[in-house]
Amino acid sequence: MASALNYNYKVVKQFAIATVVWGVVGMLVGVIIAAQLAWPALNFDTAWLTYGRLRPLHTNAVIFAFGGCALFATSYYVVQRTCQVRLFSDTLASITFWGWQLVIVAAAISLPLGFTQGKEYAELEWPIDLLIAVVWVSYAVVFFGTLIKRKTSHIYVANWFFGAFILTVAILHIVNSAAMPATLTKSYSAYTGVQDAMIQWWYGHNAVGFFLTAGFLGMMYYFIPKQAERPVFSYRLSIVHFWALIFTYMWAGPHHLHYTALPDWAQSVGMVFSLILLAPSWGGMINGIMTLSGAWHKLRSDPILKFLVVSLSFYGMSTFEGPMMSIKTVNALSHYTDWTVGHVHSGALGWVGFITMGSIYYLIPRLSGKKAMWSTQLIEWHFWVATIGVVLYIASMWIAGVMQGLMWRAVNGDGTLTYSFVEGVKATFPYYVIRVSGGALYLAGMLMMAFNVFKTVQGGQAVDARIASPSVAHV
Ligand code: HEM
Ligand code: HEM
Repeated sequence: MASALNYNYKVVKQFAIATVVWGVVGMLVGVIIAAQLAWPALNFDTAWLTYGRLRPLHTNAVIFAFGGCALFATSYYVVQRTCQVRLFSDTLASITFWGWQLVIVAAAISLPLGFTQGKEYAELEWPIDLLIAVVWVSYAVVFFGTLIKRKTSHIYVANWFFGAFILTVAILHIVNSAAMPATLTKSYSAYTGVQDAMIQWWYGHNAVGFFLTAGFLGMMYYFIPKQAERPVFSYRLSIVHFWALIFTYMWAGPHHLHYTALPDWAQSVGMVFSLILLAPSWGGMINGIMTLSGAWHKLRSDPILKFLVVSLSFYGMSTFEGPMMSIKTVNALSHYTDWTVGHVHSGALGWVGFITMGSIYYLIPRLSGKKAMWSTQLIEWHFWVATIGVVLYIASMWIAGVMQGLMWRAVNGDGTLTYSFVEGVKATFPYYVIRVSGGALYLAGMLMMAFNVFKTVQGGQAVDARIASPSVAHV
């Protein structure tokens, strides 16, 4: 029975389990499309199994279903623990859970059927967009309502990151989705031409910055100190990190539109802000890693900490690579190639995936009234299998990407192209096969996690921990 003296763990647990389920689904679709790129016949000449329809299904499932549920779960947990109050409204929180699952199911049906607005990461048609807006506003009310009724005077830094993520995603979604409906399943964007492109990539890049980064940094600032049992290395740095990161991300979008019809000065603004972005990103990474000072030995025996800390190495890697790729001359080589896909997945698998896995492993036993996960050994296995998977995925895509870029631009003395396009495709084949094996390993790790979570949750009761008295406050 829910009581005002307890935290609402029910909704946290629902979202945590949904994270694992959608992780398996989204990554399975990832492996399928990776296999289709190597062996195109795997679409079995069936419209809804074609690459063009399954690719947005993959991106939506991993970003919004897997990543989204993880963000809901962790933000609801963290905001309660650090504010020492129950969620603002149980009913609204429950609406966000079921509403979000409805969005996911609607996406899983409409994308394979071919309904799309054709905007990357914003493919869903307008009725689903409206549902997303309703769920998101409810989410904002629950989160900020909880912050407002907090018993602590201070707002812990993780909540700043979660709060910025919630607010910004609301604005991005509403502005980018503005469209004129023609039928129930078809609409036309409110923007045209280069303005449409700029709005789309202002949205797209900030989806990376706020959906795939700021929210997950919120996880970092809570779960790394908790699991390492050490305070954040520098709280002052965390505040500088927050303001610098959210200010800079907003301007970097044009790096997705280098050498397009977008005015050159706007492309340069995107490039310069992307280069500046290296500083807050690395400041944050260093703050997270240094939190382990005095606790490094724990890494030897604690696979959850391994997930959390290694995620930061991948975060550092992708936020070094990103600014480099935003330099116009580098982008001239990398754009359109698999280098971009390698960059995406070093962030997605290494950073977003690992920090999520570490955080969910932390949460599941606490939400189920258990002391620990069913098997620590299995977490260790998951960690190593997933790490090998990521390395195979990103290394193969880097090599393939640079090779493609060099082959496409190679010219003979008489000015003709040295390679035909199909020769580039043929040369890429072995790397696509390596990517499939890396993806399959990563998926195998996710299946281990699902089994471990199932065994841990089985037989456990849904516990609603009592709220600590502020005098013994410990977040
Ligand atoms: C088993 C794991 C995974 C596999 C095998 C996989 C595979 C793929 C493949 C084959 C593509 C299409 C690349 C192309 O069009 O050339 C792709 C795109 C993408 N995936 Fe994954 N993926 C996996 C996990 C994830 C995860 C966990 C995330 C995010 C958290 C993610 C985010 C994305 C994004 C954002 C794109 C679009 C990239 C772009 O447009 O450049 N993937 N994935
Ligand atoms: C300092 C931070 C970062 C910068 C400056 C940056 C920069 C870039 C650049 C220049 C591109 C290539 C654009 C193109 O040629 O089309 C790109 C693509 C991408 N990046 Fe990053 N990146 C950063 C961090 C990250 C992180 C941490 C993630 C994931 C968690 C990520 C996800 C993506 C995705 C999904 C794309 C592909 C977009 C698409 O074309 O569909 N980035 N990024």
